[in-house]
Amino acid sequence: PKKIAVLTSGGDAPGMNAAIRAVVRSCAYHNLECVGVYRGFQGLIEGDFKELNARTVKNIINRGGTFLKSARSKDFLTLEGRKKAFENLQNENINALVVIGGDGTFAGASAFAEEFNFPIVGIPGTIDNDINGTDYTIGYDTALNTVVEAIDKIRDTANSHNRLFLVEVMGRDAGDIALNAGIGAGAEEILIPEQNMGKERLLESLSRSKKSGKTSSIVVVSEGDQIGKNIFELAKYIEENLKEYEVRVTVLGHIQRGGAPSCYDRVLASRLGVGAIDALLGGETNVMIGIVHNKVTSVPFSEAIKGNNEIDEELIRVADIISI
Ligand code: F6P
Repeated sequence: PKKIAVLTSGGDAPGMNAAIRAVVRSCAYHNLECVGVYRGFQGLIEGDFKELNARTVKNIINRGGTFLKSARSKDFLTLEGRKKAFENLQNENINALVVIGGDGTFAGASAFAEEFNFPIVGIPGTIDNDINGTDYTIGYDTALNTVVEAIDKIRDTANSHNRLFLVEVMGRDAGDIALNAGIGAGAEEILIPEQNMGKERLLESLSRSKKSGKTSSIVVVSEGDQIGKNIFELAKYIEENLKEYEVRVTVLGHIQRGGAPSCYDRVLASRLGVGAIDALLGGETNVMIGIVHNKVTSVPFSEAIKGNNEIDEELIRVADIISI
């Protein structure tokens, strides 16, 4: 390829800017032209492009969000929309594309790459960490740190009032944020979609720990968990049946998506950005660049979005043991 376009799509994640920067600078290093596409696939359809060079991406490695902006494009789901996107790429003489996003982004990219025989490489950017073929996604580490910082604060007030807090965290259908932030923040219980605990067992466990001398409790609830889905109802249920704690709910929401990326996410984003251009230059297409056992690798998009998020049983065991 001679001219490469880069876009961010789906939910934003801290470190996306660092990834764009690495893509742009890697292009400059290899004497390739680079074009930024605003608002993800929607901007591709609308021809919202801007030439980027090594200096246009200065002072962004430390910034959350994505300066290219992001969108979840409905038009790109139609063949008509994708045709328009392809025409715009051709008119600009762009011959390869780097997409930064999550599973929805890769599904769209994969369809497009096959339909128009257009070289595309993906970079996993989502706080959810729910992508196969990479140990970590960009933004996940920062989100974990944000959640742990928030729960540390909640712990202060929970403890002062002898209260039980239900803290809802993001992750869509994946429990990675809940499980890891829960361990890091010393949560009493962690509810994740991959493992249905059931209300009764939760109650038993909370009651047991109260009897063992705990005076306050923090339960981390993943937004996709079966019994945690309606967190306010769950709070009422616990208060009515346990009768030993006042229960409060905190929904952390979108603060988990913002903020300066952690050093880990900046390094990850930089490695994957460089890896994406290396892959395109090596003739790869329809793949996602990931990190496995700390080595940069690639997997077909189809593999990356296979679903069935796997949770490490060892982590669940650790969480159980250290919350006794
Ligand atoms: O995929 C990232 C994510 O933040 C999920 O954790 C969450 O379920 C979803 O996006 C929220 O989407 P939106 O920002 O469109 O409300």
